[in-house]
Amino acid sequence: MNKPLALLGGTPLCQQSWPQWPQSSATTRRHLDAVLDSHRWSISGQYRGEPSWEERFGKAFAQYTGAGHCVPASTGTASLTMALEACGVGAHDEVIVPGVSWVASASAVLGINAIPVLVDVDPHTGCLDPARVEQALSPRTRAITVVHLGSAVAELEQLCRIASDRGIPLIEDCAQAHGARYAGRHVGTFGAAGTFSMQHSKLLTSGEGGAVITDDASLARRLAHLRADGRILAETAPSIDEMELVETAELMGSNYCLSEFHAAILIAQLELLDQQLAVRRTNAHRLDALLRSLGFFPQETSAGTTARAHYTYVVRLPEDLLERAPIARLGAALGAELGLPCKTMYASLNRNRLYQPASRPRFDLGREFADAVRPERYALPAAEAFSAATLALPHRMLLADAQAIEQVAAAFEKVAANAHQLCD
Ligand SMILES: Cc1ncc(COP(=O)(O)O)c(C=O)c1O
Repeated sequence: MNKPLALLGGTPLCQQSWPQWPQSSATTRRHLDAVLDSHRWSISGQYRGEPSWEERFGKAFAQYTGAGHCVPASTGTASLTMALEACGVGAHDEVIVPGVSWVASASAVLGINAIPVLVDVDPHTGCLDPARVEQALSPRTRAITVVHLGSAVAELEQLCRIASDRGIPLIEDCAQAHGARYAGRHVGTFGAAGTFSMQHSKLLTSGEGGAVITDDASLARRLAHLRADGRILAETAPSIDEMELVETAELMGSNYCLSEFHAAILIAQLELLDQQLAVRRTNAHRLDALLRSLGFFPQETSAGTTARAHYTYVVRLPEDLLERAPIARLGAALGAELGLPCKTMYASLNRNRLYQPASRPRFDLGREFADAVRPERYALPAAEAFSAATLALPHRMLLADAQAIEQVAAAFEKVAANAHQLCD
């Protein structure tokens, strides 16, 4: 199978066009028109006689996840910030953060002047390792955050037990896991709160957006204040043209409101979610088997996972292949064969170039703080090994047909067989 790689001018193995992302429906457009015509584009606009789209999305997403409450927010980062603050985390508190994630998992903690304590991950799932969490806890630990990474669900049973034994909140960052389930329950409902991102690349998206779910009514009330400058929606509808947000002065907040446009899009997109998840699951299952037979290692998930959601399709490459060519070149070669971006995984947070606490003067909070947030002080061997050996493929690939999925496996095989071409 000695063939010139597409990256080096050879013929790409795959000629087809892939499904695009995001995808919308006629309902999405109808909802957007309805917002335009409503003359209320934000929950901070005057009441027009109808429940806001934001409130309606909150109810719909709570119902979808099985949570008691949902407070929508402007982004996933805002959602994490709100969840941490609603749980009472603040300046100089320590928060456990998994060693492999998007930078926001750590920067949101830093954003409330708390200390992200980077903790190592399970080598097979890339998610927080409960044994390492136990070792990292200190009297100053005020919360544990866990990320369901790529297509994996973290080891929730053990993490819930650790959090409850210590009496500290577990916050599930479900930015990458809309629709995933553990022990039959939707992720985000296991800890004190679950946070979501609805940014462009996510499985449920409105371009930008977020939400926090919780079963705790008083936490939900604090979340609602935190997202609307210390105001909450009135319990009974006001007169037309009055403000629906009322000032309680219970808790100072910020403006993290989801706009009406975003909320209206999300309600329409939520109708598509389960069907898209099911297609991805079937294709991922097929691809897992094909890649395993070729010697690759598709990402694993915790034993308690009952439904995966594929945000990225993550694959660990075999060592002998990694010895033959740099992983970034292997990803680029695979991408050129497929006509899809095939990226290396996020660098572990102790080595991630986007995670630089010292670059922001606002975190200049004294020598002790500066030392505590220094990323390099954390040893994360499993996270580093995971990041160095895995590629992440976009979830729109998994919306293609079965034949296309076979081509993905064939592209892996072609790149592996011709990796020597990438060494120059
Ligand atoms: C795990 C995780 N947490 C948080 C975020 C932040 O979400 P947002 O970009 O909506 O602020 C992301 C975004 O990619 C993410 O993947």
